[in-house]
Amino acid sequence: MQHLVDTDNFSDVQITQLLSDAKRFKAKRPPQLLHDKLLITLFFEASTRTRSSFEVAAKRLGAAVVHLDPSRSSSKKGESLEDTFANLCAMEPDGVIIRHAENETPQRLADMQTTPVINAGAGNYAHPTQALLDLFTIVEHFDGDIKGKTIAIVGDIVSSRVAASGIRLLERMGLNVLLVAPKQFMPEPSSLNKALPQYEKLEDVMDKVDVIMSLRAQLERHETELFENYDDYAKQYCISKERMGNRDILVLHPGPVMRNIDISDDMLSDPRCKVLTQVKNGVYMRMAILKLLLLDS
Ligand code: CP
Repeated sequence: MQHLVDTDNFSDVQITQLLSDAKRFKAKRPPQLLHDKLLITLFFEASTRTRSSFEVAAKRLGAAVVHLDPSRSSSKKGESLEDTFANLCAMEPDGVIIRHAENETPQRLADMQTTPVINAGAGNYAHPTQALLDLFTIVEHFDGDIKGKTIAIVGDIVSSRVAASGIRLLERMGLNVLLVAPKQFMPEPSSLNKALPQYEKLEDVMDKVDVIMSLRAQLERHETELFENYDDYAKQYCISKERMGNRDILVLHPGPVMRNIDISDDMLSDPRCKVLTQVKNGVYMRMAILKLLLLDS
């Protein structure tokens, strides 16, 4: 039984297959490959993109989807997460897609070996489907020529599961990863697989990068007050047309975007910014992931 807790669950061959299937599905909608499958989604944290993208992906492939809303479930009556999961598994779904605030939850449920577990975001540890759709968007943009390209991840890196999974996957795929953030948003080098170049000023990397991945500033997650308000943060880290100049840099953001804090209004409507392409590609990549986990494994 194969799970997706983080992208290291997939071999290089499987990642190549995912990229190829996602590209194929985007070019031509596939037949209902998963018409006899049923997935359950269990989101303990809010989501716009990931939950709806999984549902669209599953339905495009003919699978049925059942949502359990944890705020109206028996977890409110004290049922443990493991018992909730075991009860859902007793209904024989073909997979459970889970988002949870704790880093370890998807692995703990995967270890029960009752149904494939798909991590839709866990704490600040991993968001593998976001990393894979970001990789697909970068591969598509550079027509496959990604080895040696340089990406700057900008913003609240320490709080970000998107950054955590992205760093691991993009490095593995041969990109150079730079981190740009104020000190308190920067992860400890010991928490990374290897020390990555760290910068405090965005201006210091603008002429070195092919891709910028902006992250949502999550000032509320930090105990120390770094900035008096979001405007002060934006002055240093907002990706604006003025900062970009005429540089040919691909701009990404996993969403939700805080307009004029993470990325400016004018940059969001600039063709170099592919935020909505990421969302579109997310459906095709999740279709490829569901096919791999439910049909090919
Ligand atoms: N990118 C992402 O995980 O967005 P949601 O929180 O809306 O799912």
